[in-house]
Amino acid sequence: MSTIRLGDEAPNFTAQTTAGEINFHNWLGDDWGILFSHPADYTPVCTTELGTVAKYKTEFDKRNVKVVALSVDGLESHNGWIKDINETQNTTVNFPIIADENSEIAMLYDMIHPNADSKLTVRSVFVIGPDKKVKLMLTYPASTGRNFNELLRVIDSLQLTAYHKVATPANWNNGDPCVIVPDVSNDEIPKLFPKGHTEIKPYLRLTPQPNLN
Ligand code: BEZ
Repeated sequence: MSTIRLGDEAPNFTAQTTAGEINFHNWLGDDWGILFSHPADYTPVCTTELGTVAKYKTEFDKRNVKVVALSVDGLESHNGWIKDINETQNTTVNFPIIADENSEIAMLYDMIHPNADSKLTVRSVFVIGPDKKVKLMLTYPASTGRNFNELLRVIDSLQLTAYHKVATPANWNNGDPCVIVPDVSNDEIPKLFPKGHTEIKPYLRLTPQPNLN
């Protein structure tokens, strides 16, 4: 097991998936990536989660994000279960699912939390940037299905803040005003943020979202 922290390089691996063998870093290429684990195939919450991810594919594509799922089940199980996901969630699974039968990748990414379950993965999410660095991590228990709208929201924030000197405030959604980061001086603001800004306090300065027309 390794401890992964924000800013670390996402560990590379080779894996069998429902879309063939992948080398994780090569498969990501220059795109952003989401690696997410689910506890087990043929379980109800996971069925709804993977169906939802399939329906969000165009949203991930728009953001240049590749998505890959993982559980410690085998390929035969994944392939059988995909038919159920497609049937019950009215979709077509359109992303690879890693078959991590010996838990190697789950251990590499610390996705098994023994005090929650000794064998099955929790619901981990790793968002990885084009530089292969880990940008965000989320961990949910088996009993709570993830909110994939929240995942799109944080990707919008990560992609915005990677290229502009802003941060996103509480409950921010794409299109809302952004916070100018503290290391930008007031003198620099007109050049960096030509749409203007509002100073609420010297340390709390808002500007319209810079990457929108
Ligand atoms: C589920 O996906 O429904 C699930 C999986 C493992 C434990 C509890 C629920």
